[in-house]
Amino acid sequence: MSTAMEGLGRDAGSASYLLPRGLRVNLGCGPVMPKNWMNVDGSRRAWLMAHGAGLDRLLVRLKLLRATAFRPGIVHHDLRRPLPWANDSVAAIYAGEVWEHLEYEDARRLTNECRRVLMKGGVLRLCVPDGVEFWENYLTIFREEQALEPAKRHVERLHSHVRMYFDDICTRPPGLKSFGHFHKWQYDEVQLVDLCTRSGFKDVGRQAFGVSRIPDIGVLERSNFLIVEGVKP
Ligand SMILES: C[S@@+](CC[C@H](N)C(=O)[O-])C[C@H]1O[C@@H](n2cnc3c(N)ncnc32)[C@H](O)[C@@H]1O
Repeated sequence: MSTAMEGLGRDAGSASYLLPRGLRVNLGCGPVMPKNWMNVDGSRRAWLMAHGAGLDRLLVRLKLLRATAFRPGIVHHDLRRPLPWANDSVAAIYAGEVWEHLEYEDARRLTNECRRVLMKGGVLRLCVPDGVEFWENYLTIFREEQALEPAKRHVERLHSHVRMYFDDICTRPPGLKSFGHFHKWQYDEVQLVDLCTRSGFKDVGRQAFGVSRIPDIGVLERSNFLIVEGVKP
């Protein structure tokens, strides 16, 4: 874990936290659909699986669609719309690599919605790519290459980093790819902690991969990215 983690709002007592009992929701689940969680996604394929799993299977058999990791039971919901749960009714919300797929204003509204639906003591945990790490890597490659004589440089290393930014992160038009594929914002610890705090969460802080107030976080957390957790007061 990066040194930026150390001592920065990390809650050493996470493991002993008593999470309220109740519904646990995995927002923007993609292919990660653990049992005992309500798995929610807004993609077209999630819609098909939620409304016509038989038709999905048929289209796969006819080779008109590729097999999907979505399973029946998935809840289709566009996270830009209000969450479909009552106030104070949800025990935990996890979102892995999702908030960066929303415009900042949509993410702000959604974070507020998470506070609304969580019960007192309920936990919101967000995992997003770390903008700081991305640009630090860019600067490291740049400095390594700059230190070489021009004829010995590997410009493709920089091309590849820049390509990742434009192809996967922001500006290329989506075309036929899912609307949720492209990143629309880039976070760092300061922004993400601020977002959760301003939305009314308490004890907001960066957390290590796998360390959480949510006991079974291991069943759905896949990326050791920037992770921030907060508690509904
Ligand atoms: C990078 S995937 C992350 C999947 C999974 N959570 C993980 O940790 O690997 C982002 C997911 O967010 C979903 N998504 C993006 N924008 C969304 C929106 N507005 N509403 C609902 N789901 C959305 C996409 O369909 C996609 O499945």
